[in-house]
Amino acid sequence: MKFFIDTANLNEIREAYDLGILDGVTTNPSLMAKEGIKGKDNVFSHYKAICDIVGIDGDVSAEVIATDFQGMVREGEELAEIDSKIVVKIPMIKDGIKAIKYFTDKGIKTNCTLVFSAGQAILAAKAGATYVSPFIGRIDDMGADGMDLIEQLVIIYNNYEFETEILAASVRHVTHLIQCAELGAHVVTCPLNVITGLLKHPLTDLGLEKFLADAKKM
Ligand code: G3P
Repeated sequence: MKFFIDTANLNEIREAYDLGILDGVTTNPSLMAKEGIKGKDNVFSHYKAICDIVGIDGDVSAEVIATDFQGMVREGEELAEIDSKIVVKIPMIKDGIKAIKYFTDKGIKTNCTLVFSAGQAILAAKAGATYVSPFIGRIDDMGADGMDLIEQLVIIYNNYEFETEILAASVRHVTHLIQCAELGAHVVTCPLNVITGLLKHPLTDLGLEKFLADAKKM
C-alpha cells in the first residue's frame, strides 16, 4: 500500500518524508490556495519544490485548471515538464477522459480526480489513468458510505486486471485509512495528522513509561 500526503505545505511534506514511509504527494487548487501560492510562476516553482523533497520514485499530483480538452493538454504538458515526478491530475469530466487517454498514449502519468461512482472509475481505467481518486470523505458527508465505493472499485478493477491504481482521497481519519487497507486500495492520500495518528495507542505510551521507569532499576 502506498502512502501519499495530501497537502501543498512544504513543512508537512518534509516532516512526512522524514518518517521514511511516504511514496508521494497529492495537491489540488484548494490546497495550493491555502498555502497562498499565486500566479503561474509561483505555482510551478512550488510544484518543483515539492518534487525536490520527494524521493526519486515519488509521485507528485499537480492539477490542471482548464476544463476543455485543448486547455487540459496544454496545461498538463507544461506541468509534466516541471519534473518527471509530476502526475497530471485531471477532473472526471468528458474532456478529462479524452485528456487522460491523450496523456496515457504519450506515457505521461495521470490521476483522475473527483471520482464519486463506479461508472466514473471504469471510464478512468478504460482511458488508462495511472490513478483514480475516489473522494471517500465527501461521500460520507452526503450521508452515504465512501468505503462502499472503494470495495466496489477493488472488485471491478480486479475482475479485469485494470492497471489503474485506486488512490483513496478525501481520507479524513485513521479509520478511513485502515478500512482502505482492509479493502485493498492501492494508495491512500491523507493529511499529516492521519499519518501520524497511526502511531498513537495509549497502551504504547503506558508501556513505554513503565519500561523507562524499570530501566532505571536495571
Ligand atoms: O485528495 C482530495 C482531498 O484534498 C479532498 O479532501 O477533505 O477536502 O474532502 P477533503
